[in-house]
Amino acid sequence: DSQFTIAIDGPAAAGKGTISKAVAARFGFAHLDTGLLYRAVGRRTLQGLEPIAAAHALTPEELEQGDLRTAEIAQAASKVAVIPEVRAALVDFQRAFARRSGGAVLDGRDIGTVICPEAEVKLFVTASPEVRAERRFLELIAKGNDISREQVLSDVKERDARDTERSTAPMKPAEDAVLLDTSDLSVEAALEKAIKVIEAKK
Ligand code: C5P
Repeated sequence: DSQFTIAIDGPAAAGKGTISKAVAARFGFAHLDTGLLYRAVGRRTLQGLEPIAAAHALTPEELEQGDLRTAEIAQAASKVAVIPEVRAALVDFQRAFARRSGGAVLDGRDIGTVICPEAEVKLFVTASPEVRAERRFLELIAKGNDISREQVLSDVKERDARDTERSTAPMKPAEDAVLLDTSDLSVEAALEKAIKVIEAKK
């Protein structure tokens, strides 16, 4: 059949989201931003719910409700993401999405290592913390969030540390991942490199 999985991992604001969306559109694949799953659970905990119960109760519709891309929800997401039972509750949904026919792009932290170790293409997208913080700062400001550059940089570093140091599914490149550092690349240039990697494996 027509199963083809592209796993795109990397830290916050490295360009994963932009690349994933563009790649999905280009190849006609479905796209899942797996960070939204953790963000939706994080938002529930901010409302007072217990994280493991919230992860089990998560519905796909919830991923489209309201703005999950705030700095507060990002921090809450990275806190629930260290809990092994939260991660376990979200595995089946992600794997089913990855195997849908017609192809799928999943972006996150552990797609190439844990969720889809058999993915046909694995990319690990990085950029320096300063470059990532500046990009995220501009995005948040454009959406009307009231936040400083310094706060965004310290949030990004805190989240990186939590994501790389946790014992369950830490963020790291899969052994067979292709590394793509976007620090000095335009969106167009980064996208062109990603597409070359994918085309070589199709
Ligand atoms: O990618 P995004 O910034 O939306 O992810 C929010 C948080 O969710 C991350 O900081 C990380 O802690 C967690 N996450 C994860 N595994 C994924 C995707 C996101 O642990 N596959």
